[in-house]
Amino acid sequence: MTLGFVGLGVMGGRMAMRLLEAGHTVVGYNRTREKARWLVDAGLRLADSPREVGAACDVVFTMVTDGAALDAVTRGPEGLLAGLRPDAVLVEMSTVSPAAVRALGAEVAARGAALLDAPVSGSPATLEAGQLSFMVGGEAAALERARPYLLAIGPTITRVGELGLAKAMKIAINQVLPVQMLAFSEAVLLAEKSGIPRERAVEALLKSVTASPMVKYRGPFVLGMPAEAWFDVGMMQKDLGLALELGRTTGVPLPSVALVNEMLNAARGLGLAAYDFAVVFDVLARLAGLPPSKKS
Ligand SMILES: NC(=O)c1ccc[n+]([C@@H]2O[C@H](COP(=O)([O-])OP(=O)(O)OC[C@H]3O[C@@H](n4cnc5c(N)ncnc54)[C@H](OP(=O)(O)O)[C@@H]3O)[C@@H](O)[C@H]2O)c1
Repeated sequence: MTLGFVGLGVMGGRMAMRLLEAGHTVVGYNRTREKARWLVDAGLRLADSPREVGAACDVVFTMVTDGAALDAVTRGPEGLLAGLRPDAVLVEMSTVSPAAVRALGAEVAARGAALLDAPVSGSPATLEAGQLSFMVGGEAAALERARPYLLAIGPTITRVGELGLAKAMKIAINQVLPVQMLAFSEAVLLAEKSGIPRERAVEALLKSVTASPMVKYRGPFVLGMPAEAWFDVGMMQKDLGLALELGRTTGVPLPSVALVNEMLNAARGLGLAAYDFAVVFDVLARLAGLPPSKKS
């Protein structure tokens, strides 16, 4: 099977690699060609445009930054839609709004193809370990056609309903991450200012009932922030923006999301935007008169 892959960044590149490792032929496109060199070395055929990818494959994946990037790779004369085969399945995995994916769904259907929204839960490390999970929205028949390739990337597929609902679910999950990180940071700093060494406070919290899987892997960042962000402040604020917009349109108040978004604005103001969003700890530490996390 020849598979198409548009958007070979941190997540998309690693996904394409898993498809190559599973023995599939992959035709890929990335706006910045050099970033895909390691995949070309592993056998990926690099196309000159998303349109070329669409014309060459029956199942195509997209994994790009946001709604503007999705627009750029799908529309226009060199966009994916211009080359998409009738009967193709397009699997859109980026974290974008439900409205954006529904609008794309109408255009894909007009070409006789099917669209699935399949955002992912997990990090680059989860992905490399073969543990990524998918939430999927769209027609069950299209999912069955894409399922073997999704399973080559990650083992867990949860169909949540019609097109767009998987994006809504993904947005609902992601907003929890920085809120948990803020609560964890408050706990560490409260313990520290009370006289408990930071390392000891982190250890106690990670052994407590409050230690979610996310807190378990990101909590230690307050002791040493990774030089390369797992998910930086800008990317997290992109998802918080999607959550606040969805909250506005559905009439659901999200007070803790609004608060942590403001704290991440402060992180930007302090010149910390390139770090993982766990750097929200540094904003609070500054307010509490305590030292920031160590940077390598
Ligand atoms: N990183 C994570 O832990 C994680 C986890 C779950 C979900 N996600 C979601 O997965 C998506 C991709 O994240 P990522 O971490 O892989 O990001 P990334 O490494 O920054 O990759 C983004 C991709 O989008 C492309 N792109 C951006 N703007 C574009 C434009 N205007 N035209 C064409 N291509 C464009 C980039 O091309 P260039 O290489 O040319 O810049 C790159 O291929 C995001 O929606 C993110 O929220 C990420």
